[in-house]
Amino acid sequence: MFKLEEFDIKLDTKFVGRNFIYADTLDSTNSFLLNSEKKYNNGTTLLAEFQEKGRGRIQRPWQSTKGKNLTFSILLNKKLKKYIPNHINLAASLAVSQSIEHLYQLKTDLKWPNDVLVNKKKISGILLESKSTGSALNKIVVGIGINVNQTKFEGEFKIQPTSIKYEKRQIINREILLSEVLNNFEELLELSKQNSKKLLDTWRDNCRMLGENVKIEHNNEIKYGVFYDIDANGFMLLKDGDKFEKITLGDVSLIQI
Ligand code: BTN
Repeated sequence: MFKLEEFDIKLDTKFVGRNFIYADTLDSTNSFLLNSEKKYNNGTTLLAEFQEKGRGRIQRPWQSTKGKNLTFSILLNKKLKKYIPNHINLAASLAVSQSIEHLYQLKTDLKWPNDVLVNKKKISGILLESKSTGSALNKIVVGIGINVNQTKFEGEFKIQPTSIKYEKRQIINREILLSEVLNNFEELLELSKQNSKKLLDTWRDNCRMLGENVKIEHNNEIKYGVFYDIDANGFMLLKDGDKFEKITLGDVSLIQI
């Protein structure tokens, strides 16, 4: 059971999570907010204990044992022109990594575009989706999955999953973690508007893959090069010899040369 009062007392935001919806089971928190006709407040946060069709990036499923983890989505539907959508991705992954480091003293690593790793294993993933009418962006939904108290993961994974409980060997308070993530996310969202260079630099400081030889896989296509940098929009710049290519999608992994 999720203890609302414990979450609420630690929430220190102006709008993110101020309208909080708790659900037992849904298909997907992202799908619910994306497809809902109802006009929810900016910052509405929807948490589900179980998702029947939890979705990950690149049409992958996101599996999470009922009641153990955090699977939630944040709706943004106000003044969206002020944001670069991909900066929201970076802000969300930074919010998760800062929260895990601050609350549990675990060293995290960011994996482009928006995975959070601990000890080279995946502890959190983010799926940003949006809805537009014509060229106008109506809403952005930031879906976040964090492995919190689940310790067994079955199936095939691109990167081995882990959880905070597994790494810390202690049960983790989900309410405190969620409020910390939302507090950090709101701050980083503000930073993305006020000083996006600082947001990008903070992300760079937390990504150990920068400057390394990497492999990018997408749709059965493989590219190799050096992860040179991220550009002003947060996309990857891949350097192959003296050629640069902007990468917007794919799975990146380190390679040994
Ligand atoms: C990934 O790493 O591929 C992204 C995973 C995103 C999972 C979250 S869980 C809450 C929200 N609802 C979904 O269906 N997906 C996101």
